[in-house]
Amino acid sequence: MAFNSLREFAELLEARGELVRITAPVSADLEITEIVDRVSKGPAERNKALLFENVTGYEMPVLINMFGNAQRMAWSLGVDKLEDLHQNLESLIDLRPPIGLRETLGRGAGLAQALRSAGLKPRKVPHPPAQAIIETETPTLDHIPILTCWPGDGGPFVTLPQVITRDPVKGTRNVGMYRLQKIDSRTLLVHWQRHKGGAEHERVAKELSQPRIPAAIVLGGDPACIWSASAPLPPDIDEYWLAGWLRGRSVPFASCITQPLEIPATADIVIEGYVDPNEHLPEGPFGDHTGYYTPVERFPVFHVTAITRRRDPIYPATVVGIPPMEDYWMGKATERLFLPLVQLIAPEIVDFAMPAPGIFHNLVLVSIKKRFPGQAQKVIHALWGLALLSLAKAIVVVDDWVDVQNPMEVGWQALGNVDWSRDVTLTKGPVDQLDHASTASAFGGKIGIDATAKLPEEGYSRGWPEVVSMDPRVKARIDALWDDLGI
Ligand SMILES: Cc1cc2nc3c(=O)[nH]c(=O)nc-3n(C[C@H](O)[C@H](O)[C@H](O)COP(=O)(O)O)c2cc1C
Repeated sequence: MAFNSLREFAELLEARGELVRITAPVSADLEITEIVDRVSKGPAERNKALLFENVTGYEMPVLINMFGNAQRMAWSLGVDKLEDLHQNLESLIDLRPPIGLRETLGRGAGLAQALRSAGLKPRKVPHPPAQAIIETETPTLDHIPILTCWPGDGGPFVTLPQVITRDPVKGTRNVGMYRLQKIDSRTLLVHWQRHKGGAEHERVAKELSQPRIPAAIVLGGDPACIWSASAPLPPDIDEYWLAGWLRGRSVPFASCITQPLEIPATADIVIEGYVDPNEHLPEGPFGDHTGYYTPVERFPVFHVTAITRRRDPIYPATVVGIPPMEDYWMGKATERLFLPLVQLIAPEIVDFAMPAPGIFHNLVLVSIKKRFPGQAQKVIHALWGLALLSLAKAIVVVDDWVDVQNPMEVGWQALGNVDWSRDVTLTKGPVDQLDHASTASAFGGKIGIDATAKLPEEGYSRGWPEVVSMDPRVKARIDALWDDLGI
């Protein structure tokens, strides 16, 4: 399903009882955070998207928590349930187990081809709503209700952006969700971490002594475009192809007014500008999705050259902090959608999960169909070599019948099936730049835990015990009796 505007999506959520309009005056300074934090951690029936219509000092309404549960997240991507995502992707790609590396890589390229050719060629539209109002003389960020999320934050931060840049050599587009700190009415700092696409464009620009990286910060529009900015796609796959495929219609584009870039024509607000690869200023602190403040670090400066917007824009935002919050569901959509791609690399994988307390990179649970000794270790190493899963600090592998979406079942297996002197792989490698426990920034220790049933070749000769289960005949008899038992 394609939405023509963020407002259209908000109206759908409202019609389905998933959005609350808040008309009471509320400040963008901390108060919205306190409300959304209570909503995210409270009872499920209170967890709604919130449209703040009366933000003190601003005309623009703020939409927050639109992705904040499984149902809203699924609707935003045009499906009824998140599980439909990987089934749809499976039908787009060939999932036969690969024979060799060439074939595996070929299939990856095949995905790019498939997304591109699913009738999703970019198209430009006349009179783009995103440019109904154009400010080039004195563009100012001061009309946008940018939130100050937590008391220790270094200032207000744009938290749900689509940051567009192009590779200075190849010209390929990257769209990343990187927070931006407002420094003044025309200056922001862009927090693209060193493993991310935008940071790679910065590195290439520096190498070429290119003084400016044209950039656009897109806010709002179709929620599939918003979410796609957070999807960890390989560098040559355009996030807006993915958005187009999810929507079932290509993303309509418009040319920026002051930069050589295109932006989705249905966006609510677009901040055009450029990043100077040689100008870095202290960014932060920021109350992050780790649940801790990320300390001050230098990040590049974004200079505003124009601001364009709809006539009736909605400012989209999110607040991260101690989990669970909205970003958990954004990560859940990534996990569900990318399952078939992970299976391309390691076909024995049945499912994987990144539970909320693990903040994505701290814990990955994987179930596998084990056929040979050392297969859990094979999978652990494959994941440590795969895109952003390479940042995973802990990977736990269980057998195929274990439901990795059920923490109780995984905990039971992960604790009981392990001899800690035999089943643990400790190593070092890249870790998330936000990781505060590693001794060095972005580099640290990792653990892989093999919690599968052990084979004799793996040093276990006692005969693996059988899991307790009921005789099916007894089950059938009790099923038949059940309604009469009065339980
Ligand atoms: C709400 C939210 C905020 C995020 N903020 C940042 C950020 O500030 N910096 C960053 O590097 N990644 C951030 N991420 C993760 C990136 O969006 C994600 O890694 C994405 O894949 C980056 O795009 P890229 O692969 O094209 O670089 C955030 C994700 C979410 C869901």
